[in-house]
Amino acid sequence: MLIAIALISAICASLTTATPATASSSTPLIPRTKLFGNPDIIHVRMSADAKLIAYLAPYKNVINLWVQPLDQVLKKEQTAKPVTFDQGRGIEDFEWTYLPGIIIYVQDKDGDENWRLWKVNVTQEPFTTTVLSDTKRVQANIESKKPSHPEYIVIGLNDRDERHVKSFVFP
Ligand SMILES: *[C@@H]1O[C@H](CO)[C@@H](O)[C@H](O)[C@H]1NC(C)=O
Repeated sequence: MLIAIALISAICASLTTATPATASSSTPLIPRTKLFGNPDIIHVRMSADAKLIAYLAPYKNVINLWVQPLDQVLKKEQTAKPVTFDQGRGIEDFEWTYLPGIIIYVQDKDGDENWRLWKVNVTQEPFTTTVLSDTKRVQANIESKKPSHPEYIVIGLNDRDERHVKSFVFP
C-alpha cells in the first residue's frame, strides 16, 4: 500500500514538473489527412469458426467491408476482397454472426443515420447481399445474438418513436 502511494505521488510529481511542449517553427505540423483522413484498416474481426477475417478499409477512398481467409492473412497474401462497394458515407460497422460466413453490417442512406442492417454471405463468390431492415426514418440495431441459436439475431427498431435512438448499433 505504501509502495503504491509512493509510486502515485512520484507519478504526480513527474506530471506536474514536466514542461509543456512549446510550438516552434521547427516543429513539423501533423498532416490533416493523418488526423481526419481514412484509416488504413479498422475493426479487424475473426469469424466464429476462425476461418475468415473481416475488417473495414477504404475501397476507392470510401470505408468498405473486406474479407480474407485467415490462412491467407497469416501467409501475408494480398488476397483480401471488398464485400461492399459504397461510394457515399461508407460502412460504419459490422459483426459476424454465428453462422459460417454470414456478416451483418450497417449502412445508412446519404448520411441520414437511419441504419439499415444488411446480411452478406461471404462463403462463396459472388457474395450475396440481402437487406434485413429497410424502413424509412427507422434505425436498426443488433440487440443480441447467441452461439446456441446461430440462425437468430434480435434486432431493435425505433419505428414506434423515432426519438429513441442508439449511438451504437452493435452491443
Ligand atoms: C452461404 O452460402 C453458401 C454457399 O453458397 C451456402 O451453402 C450457405 O447455405 C449460405 N448460408 C446461408 C446462411 O444462407
